[in-house]
Amino acid sequence: MSRRVPVSAGKLPQVGDRALVEFEEKSLALFNIDGELFAIDDSCPHQGASLCGGRLEGGVIQCCAHGLRFDLRSGYLLNSTLLKVASYPVEVIDGQAFIVIVSEETAL
Ligand code: FES
Repeated sequence: MSRRVPVSAGKLPQVGDRALVEFEEKSLALFNIDGELFAIDDSCPHQGASLCGGRLEGGVIQCCAHGLRFDLRSGYLLNSTLLKVASYPVEVIDGQAFIVIVSEETAL
């Protein structure tokens, strides 16, 4: 089963910007790359630092803590598949953005 987390218009990041979206116990980082929205967990898979405040370069976010860089499209460490941050599809329906979270029970 998947859940759609609505993102209020005021929370939507402008092009090249990001926003933190809280959903139940999750903190999600939402990025706007050239008008396309990408959502990831706001927790670096290395040691858990926030990724929302990282350095954004194109579709790549660099963690502030130790500098690892992640591809926002795949969630993977740049040029590697060794480490991955959870990423979520973002749907826009009639101007309303939703982060789609698939529950772990059904993702198996
Ligand atoms: S916590 Fe992100 S690179 Fe170490």
